[in-house]
Amino acid sequence: MSALDVATIRRDFPLLEREVNGKRITYLDSASSAQKPLAVLDAMDHCYRHYYANIHRGVYTIAEEATAAYEAARRKVAGFVGAASESEIVFTRNATEGINLVAYTWARANLRAGDAIVLSHMEHHANVVPWHILAAERGVELRWIPMTDDYQLDLKDLDQLLDGARLLAVTAMSNVLGTINDIRPLADAAHAHDALLLVDACQYVPHVATDVQAWDADFASFSAHKMCGPSGIGALWARRELLEEMPPFLGGGEMIRDVRLDGFSTNDVPWKFEAGTMPIAEAIGFGAAVDYMTSLGMPAVRDHEMRLTRYALDALAERFPESLTIYGPRDTSVRGGAISFLFDGIHAHDISQVLDEDAVCVRAGHHCAKPLMRQLGVPATTRASVYVYNDEADVDVLVEALAKAQKFFTP
Ligand SMILES: Cc1ncc(COP(=O)(O)O)c(C=O)c1O
Repeated sequence: MSALDVATIRRDFPLLEREVNGKRITYLDSASSAQKPLAVLDAMDHCYRHYYANIHRGVYTIAEEATAAYEAARRKVAGFVGAASESEIVFTRNATEGINLVAYTWARANLRAGDAIVLSHMEHHANVVPWHILAAERGVELRWIPMTDDYQLDLKDLDQLLDGARLLAVTAMSNVLGTINDIRPLADAAHAHDALLLVDACQYVPHVATDVQAWDADFASFSAHKMCGPSGIGALWARRELLEEMPPFLGGGEMIRDVRLDGFSTNDVPWKFEAGTMPIAEAIGFGAAVDYMTSLGMPAVRDHEMRLTRYALDALAERFPESLTIYGPRDTSVRGGAISFLFDGIHAHDISQVLDEDAVCVRAGHHCAKPLMRQLGVPATTRASVYVYNDEADVDVLVEALAKAQKFFTP
């Protein structure tokens, strides 16, 4: 029995009715991007049809309505992750932009040659490349937390790694392995060394009830599109005093209080970091996605995913005991629903192409985690990932489609 009523939930997602190659879609790529419920589509449609106008500028009715809806969305996002106030939520384009914002503002204002940043081997490129760019520019040292054999962070040398570090930047949930990292002890360790903690929360927030204050983190970045919201909008949460101190990111309209020929002063937070016309309808869609996830109940979402991941791990291991290698923890209490695997020596891209004939959508490739792929010693994996609209029948379809692929590729 599942904690979620998946049959009812599926009816909220028009795309899941779609057929490909004469078969109904089995969507197992939500770790990449989730599908959108009617509530989100309707909220955005309603904005464009009834009260769309630019925000924070107009004094006419629909501009005020659009501004109120945009700011209401910020309050919803703040509540969803346990922010102390909505002024701690900066709307961004996505999780990647949120991490870059920290790299280009806080880090460039505070880090000097010889300072260190600690990352882990399981980071997405979004939490690697901005730091490589900074390291090359500033002579900052990057240090790496390795992994244990059971795909957890290997923390035995953490104190040494944090010695002289200014920032620890880690993912709360790996998009490849599914591993969930226990954030609070990492925050405590970072703070004991006077370093700040940035959490890549992109895979975590959509799947597990999140409380950034209980984490005692300093920054957390995430995207709407992975939690049933639209693409083009994400959020950076940061402690207010940090946002106050940080220099602005992009310059332009809206982020200023005053502009003169000889300079400018910045707007209050969070608007100081929101230059130009923001994705207004997308922010409103993000707020609707928060409402939708809240209506399902995040504990129920997590419970459902743990059960379904258990079912999938067992079904795959039972059906393909010899031919399938899964990369990620077996214990569902420390992992999410992204399941990466190698199958019978068949290239991941070939598998996903054959699965597409059965309308099974999975991801193949390096999943924007090339350092991790190198640690695993594989060029690519196939990744199936489950969400609120998936059930055991979807896993069964995947298993049967894999069996077909195996037949196809076995001479
Ligand atoms: C762990 C993790 N971090 C960051 C990102 C980047 O997210 P976005 O592409 O929405 O910026 C992703 C996307 O897959 C991710 O899985």
